[in-house]
Amino acid sequence: MYKCLVAAGLVAFAGPAWAAGCEQVVKSNDAMQFDVKNITVPRSCKKFTVKLEHTGKLPKAAMGHNWVLTREPDFQAVAKASASAGAAKNYVIDDPRVIAHTGLIGGGETTSVTFDVAKLTAGTSYTFFCSFPGHWAIMKGVLSLS
Ligand code: CU
Repeated sequence: MYKCLVAAGLVAFAGPAWAAGCEQVVKSNDAMQFDVKNITVPRSCKKFTVKLEHTGKLPKAAMGHNWVLTREPDFQAVAKASASAGAAKNYVIDDPRVIAHTGLIGGGETTSVTFDVAKLTAGTSYTFFCSFPGHWAIMKGVLSLS
């Protein structure tokens, strides 16, 4: 009986992707804004999920948004190279400096990405941004491991 309860507890801990605190909703809009500027990832999470919502009405081609994560020192170079990836690749370059990214969405759409928290190190500053051309200078924020 006791062993069964312990086993059940372990099973509950084995699904951290959707556990409280292991996900963050980020809203974006037609005014080229994220509603979140800082994200803290608890080190107790094995995986972390970012759900990106586009609360606007404009189509993807005009006001597309995504959520891309790099180390802070890599951010500008990756962001500047993003346009060359093109719309077909959601403006995300195929590059190891990209730690995680969502798809590109338009108004009314939602997307998400789940990544391994083991990819992050404490004391390192990470930048998340939208890589749609012209957006990354404004649509960005800071992510860190707690
Ligand atoms: Cu955008």
